[in-house]
Amino acid sequence: MEDSLDVVVLAAGKGTRMKSRLPKVLHLLAGQPLVYHVLRAALSLNPGKVIVVVGYGADSVRAALAPQPVTFVDQGDPLGTGHALLAAEKEVRASTVLVLPGDAPLVSPQALRALVERHRRTHAGVTLLTAEMAEPGSYGRVIRRGGRPVRIVEAADASPAELRVREVNSGIYCWTNTPELWAGLRLLSTQNAKGEYYLTDLVAHFAQRGQAQAVVWPDPEDLLGVNDREDLARAETLLRRRILQEWMAEGVTVVDPAAVYPSAEARVGSDTVIYPGTHILGASEIGEGCTIGPSAYLWSSRVLDGAKIWYSTVEEAWVGPGAQIGPYAHLRPGARIGAQARVGNFVEVKNATLGEEVRAAHLAYIGDAEVGAGANIGAGAITCNFQPGKKEKFRTEIGAGAFIGSNAALVAPVRIGEGAVVGAGSVITSDVPPYALALERSPQEIRLDWAKPNRPEGGHGG
Ligand code: UD1
Ligand code: MG
Repeated sequence: MEDSLDVVVLAAGKGTRMKSRLPKVLHLLAGQPLVYHVLRAALSLNPGKVIVVVGYGADSVRAALAPQPVTFVDQGDPLGTGHALLAAEKEVRASTVLVLPGDAPLVSPQALRALVERHRRTHAGVTLLTAEMAEPGSYGRVIRRGGRPVRIVEAADASPAELRVREVNSGIYCWTNTPELWAGLRLLSTQNAKGEYYLTDLVAHFAQRGQAQAVVWPDPEDLLGVNDREDLARAETLLRRRILQEWMAEGVTVVDPAAVYPSAEARVGSDTVIYPGTHILGASEIGEGCTIGPSAYLWSSRVLDGAKIWYSTVEEAWVGPGAQIGPYAHLRPGARIGAQARVGNFVEVKNATLGEEVRAAHLAYIGDAEVGAGANIGAGAITCNFQPGKKEKFRTEIGAGAFIGSNAALVAPVRIGEGAVVGAGSVITSDVPPYALALERSPQEIRLDWAKPNRPEGGHGG
């Protein structure tokens, strides 16, 4: 219990200023919900427990965080931040409670560590994390007397003189887990501009006993609270810049940092060049010496060294070393593209493995398939994996070095043997042995001079 830490994340508010049906904490920042970023920072401290207070849109917030190691408590109607923290009372065990608003996605682990450390050193009842802001706007102001914080006043309740104060409350605090904390929360009133139970009001109570401290964090950007869509865009710009700075520091070329959209979880190897219009989202991992973009959209995909992806969409896919994807290709979940393979214009691959040096250069659909090394998939070739009235998808196997002619339809389940050739336009419904030619086509008919009488008078056709 001595030095133990629990985190309470307040994520029950509606976020009225977002003017949205979606709970505010689920709005996306760099491809992940706001509250997810807060959680990442919280988990970096290895706390005993992370308690997430949900209320508005509780089910969707729970679902969005489902795989995370957190405990949920339901606030019911969100009646204010003080009411929200009180909802977590029965779950808090540790001696120190770190409270984080679910809408402060840029908070850094360093700031949280500095706050927790100061709180433990001074044994205060509460330690605030504050910052000086040039434009303090709607943040709560930290009122000091004799240099010490005495209370927080919300912007909506502040006098003109108080509004001129530049030091703001981040909404991030450490509280000592005492009966006094919970009793104080029960005594809060709603006599204020918003008619809410303000957690901020409890600061004055501890300050009167000399029990309130503050850590002034030098980088106000870390403490940005997202309350409306402009804040969201500002947070996106800041986060994007930070991530790309890290990538560049590791030897990645970002041709135009204003036009690349990274996620905090993605990794990129050195000497990879990222061109504008590119999104590298989710837990994507890009190797060294790759070329990504212009205009590539990657979601949780793995791209190995030396691969090139341009003007294409790649979702939960694996791209082998030196492979080339695009322009205008779509790799869907479960696509595995072998080393040096080529997937070109208007080719879609889903739940399929393409071996080394497979070529599918134009206009093909390869779904639920296994394609052996060096096979060639002609333009317009399609695996027909779906049969009307049946739920399951059927598989196609194409052997190494096979040649699938243009516009062939391979009706699964079907196997094309190693080195076999399927003639252009064939509809293949039964297995083709290795090195065989399969041709399914009506014989071509030639009628000599047939066209002559059908031509317009004296014309040359056309
Ligand atoms: C709050 C602080 C303000 C501070 C600012 C920093 C109070 C009263 N004000 O204001 O001093 O400068 O954060 O960003 O605390 N929430 C709940 N249940 C509720 C109400 C809110 O869980 O009943 C959650 C929200 O989902 C949000 C967080 O608490 O994640 C903060 O609420 P918000 O309404 O954004 O407070 P601010 O007005 O930003
Ligand atoms: Mg807020």
